[in-house]
Amino acid sequence: MRKLKIGVIGGGAVGLLLTAFLSEHFNVTLYTRTEQQADIIRENGIKVTGVTKKSLNPQLIKSIPQYHEEVLFVTVKQYHLTNILDELEKLSARTIIFLQNGMSHIEQLSRLKQHQLFVGVVEHGVLKKCENEVIHTGEGRIVVAPFQPNNDYSILATISEKTNREFPVLLEEEWYPLLAKKLLVNAVINPLTALWKVKNGQLVTNPSFQNTVHMLFQEIWGILELDHFDEYYEYLLAICEKTAENESSMLRDLKHGNITEVDSILGYILNRATSQNKDVPLTTFLFHSIKGLERNC
Ligand code: PAF
Repeated sequence: MRKLKIGVIGGGAVGLLLTAFLSEHFNVTLYTRTEQQADIIRENGIKVTGVTKKSLNPQLIKSIPQYHEEVLFVTVKQYHLTNILDELEKLSARTIIFLQNGMSHIEQLSRLKQHQLFVGVVEHGVLKKCENEVIHTGEGRIVVAPFQPNNDYSILATISEKTNREFPVLLEEEWYPLLAKKLLVNAVINPLTALWKVKNGQLVTNPSFQNTVHMLFQEIWGILELDHFDEYYEYLLAICEKTAENESSMLRDLKHGNITEVDSILGYILNRATSQNKDVPLTTFLFHSIKGLERNC
């Protein structure tokens, strides 16, 4: 039987992990941003260590955005999306799954009306060690939901069936609560840990930190218009406990002198607050603090 052709756009931690798992069942092309990374992977393959151990020589590595495949997973950070969206806009109809943190990419997706668009969240713990190696620190799932009504689920159902329990791909019906829940977690944990330079667990073990966590959660809750406050707050605390020994991605980005995802996380909340005519002093303070720290790196 002909294998489904899948393109994975982005050679970051999620892109490499996805390529490693999907290559076992499908015809996968990995698109890296730089030719240098493409060369390193062509020469040395991809290596996954940690809770999963894999070593593979992916079928195709490209740095030129040809995107011929029938399914595309877009895994780049939100701030690298603009050029990719320009390319995707020119393509004939196909299935595209966006796996970004934050939500500021959402308003740009209306440009891609010809495609079957899905958006999703990655719950795996995964760190990029070098250009061709990732550490899978925690097993999780990829959860996706259709961005437009009446989307055809069949291709995603095939992917989900093949990868099965080894690499669960779950389908949900509504994209907003799915992305907003992840956004809420990132919007509280990431900037606070980055500013205070603490591991995630300290947000719950230190009572003074936990006070601020609660205040920030309340402020953001007021903007995101979700239901079930207590359930979501418990979920946030559970993530802090589950990832107690981890440094958040924002803290790691600042430590390594990288740009953070603050625009797509807190920037999105600030824009929503402005359009709702609401003041969000903690979010505003944190947004500018992280921006300031980015400049300091
Ligand atoms: O961005 C991160 O670091 C992670 O999404 C999370 C869940 C906040 C844990 O560190």
